[in-house]
Amino acid sequence: MVTAEQMPEFVAWAKRRGVIFPSSEIYGGFSNTYDYGPVGVEMKNRLRASWWQSMVQSRDDIVGLDSAIILNPKVWEAAGHVENLVDLMVEDTVTHKRYRYDKLEDPTKSPDGNPVGEPRKFNILMRTFVGPVEDEAGLAYLRGETCQGIFLNFKNVLDSSRKKIPFGIAQVGKSFRNEITPGNFTYRTREFDQMEMEFFVHEEEADKWFDYWVEARLQWYVDLGVNRENLRLYKTPKNDLAHYSKATTDIQYKYPWGWDELEGIANRGNFDLTTHQKHSGKDMSVFDEETKEKLIPWVIEPAAGLDRGLLAIMLDAWQLHEKGRSGEGETETVLSINPRLAAYDCAVLPLIKKEPLVKFAEELVGKLRAQGKHVFYDESGSIGRRYRRQDEIGTPVCYTVDFETIEGDNEGTVTKRDRDTMKQERVTL
Ligand code: GAP
Repeated sequence: MVTAEQMPEFVAWAKRRGVIFPSSEIYGGFSNTYDYGPVGVEMKNRLRASWWQSMVQSRDDIVGLDSAIILNPKVWEAAGHVENLVDLMVEDTVTHKRYRYDKLEDPTKSPDGNPVGEPRKFNILMRTFVGPVEDEAGLAYLRGETCQGIFLNFKNVLDSSRKKIPFGIAQVGKSFRNEITPGNFTYRTREFDQMEMEFFVHEEEADKWFDYWVEARLQWYVDLGVNRENLRLYKTPKNDLAHYSKATTDIQYKYPWGWDELEGIANRGNFDLTTHQKHSGKDMSVFDEETKEKLIPWVIEPAAGLDRGLLAIMLDAWQLHEKGRSGEGETETVLSINPRLAAYDCAVLPLIKKEPLVKFAEELVGKLRAQGKHVFYDESGSIGRRYRRQDEIGTPVCYTVDFETIEGDNEGTVTKRDRDTMKQERVTL
């Protein structure tokens, strides 16, 4: 687990090992924007796939969707985001830097100690222009949350998939918010991936499903190996609820800077479908076979962040051993991540870069890849250094081809080294 003091070391590790790079770095970076490197993109893809598997592919009652990022701007007006997706912002009267009012320790002073002006509303939807003319007619927004595309397609999905409530629609994709104070590495950025699922239910069953999803989502993180002690539930006080929410419980993680949000589960009532029905003039109701009545379903929404989730998982799995794991060696870093999320399933290492070891190792790589495994092949450097390189990026096992592999009683076997225990055994593959 990463401590507050280790955070700079963690960020440096992320860059050094190809997990996360500062974006546009050769131009001095760009306002808390990050890129995922060769190792990071694999873990991110796997976390996304794990969410999709658990929310969509393993269930009968949830289907997927991939809707557009730039929607008709009327969507954001109807959803209340043009008016309500706002942060209260204050300006330092001396430096003119801007801060989120609710994040100030002293509401009258900036972190630099200067007086601040009156709080002003600041809309965090990202604006863009569609078409050749940059005028109000072409004004559009990059989506601020993925779920609106789900509400817009509610009827399309219902008609094409023949689902009946209770059922859900899931979507993963980029969202954008012009955050006033992004920060804490990838925790809060202006461009981020969300994993959201809207579960449509009868009003009377909303509380039951709310509790169900809070538990199910918490368990998902535990199943992925996040230490239960670093997770807790936080019920949002009524006066802090988003404009659409009747109740929200956050899953919080104990980040190096303290407890903070990881995912939110909200009871959105029938706010969204009702407002889109009103603004579009299109019927958003469903016919209930039991009561023979039309109704607008209520929605329970587990809304997770992919970047934020991966950050929490990596922070939880990361270990720094100043004097190595033996207690008397060089500094070692180990990413003890769930093997299902690791960038590589395994590494194959010939003990030395010589035939026939290399040939055997290359054939082994071919066989493992044919089984769908993501394999790291590494033939250069000392074997100890190669093991440590794999430990650092979280590769759960290393297979080493040595001289016993080639001839003698153990012919055809390789050593299998475990990342966490460092134990080795001989196995046949
Ligand atoms: N549709 C509801 C919704 O968007 P939210 O609590 O604003 O709710 C859901 O966002 C999740 O998306 C958060 O719990 C977080 O994981 C992620 N998220 C939100 N804003 C983010 C940001 N600026 N950077 C990274 N992740 C963010």
